Amino acid sequence: MSLEKLFNRNPEEEKRHKPVIEVPDRVEPNKEFRVSIKIGEKPHPFTFNHYISSILVFLEQENRPPLLVLKFEPFPPTIPPRIEFYLYLDRPSRLHVVASCNLHGLWEAEKEIEFT
Ligand SMILES: [Fe+2]
Repeated sequence: MSLEKLFNRNPEEEKRHKPVIEVPDRVEPNKEFRVSIKIGEKPHPFTFNHYISSILVFLEQENRPPLLVLKFEPFPPTIPPRIEFYLYLDRPSRLHVVASCNLHGLWEAEKEIEFT
């Protein structure tokens, strides 16, 4: 089974679950830049009954295996996470973010990052 089949793509829930990745479209090689990630364009509930249990960030690069660069597990789950971290790249890359909701499953977003 492809992992692709595991992702929820329900359009009614997408705005509250699909990760939003804020990163420059183009960056300079080997120069640090900020990555910001939040869950959904609309607020997702953060209660003990309905929450985002984990956020995983993968880096896809040509001629390299996919790399897990960040694993975030909000605790307590009642605080809406906004993740910010810094990366630098030695080649154009693609970021993949996977968020897991305890009621609505897995949601994915991706972002291409080119060089200036
Ligand atoms: Fe949810």
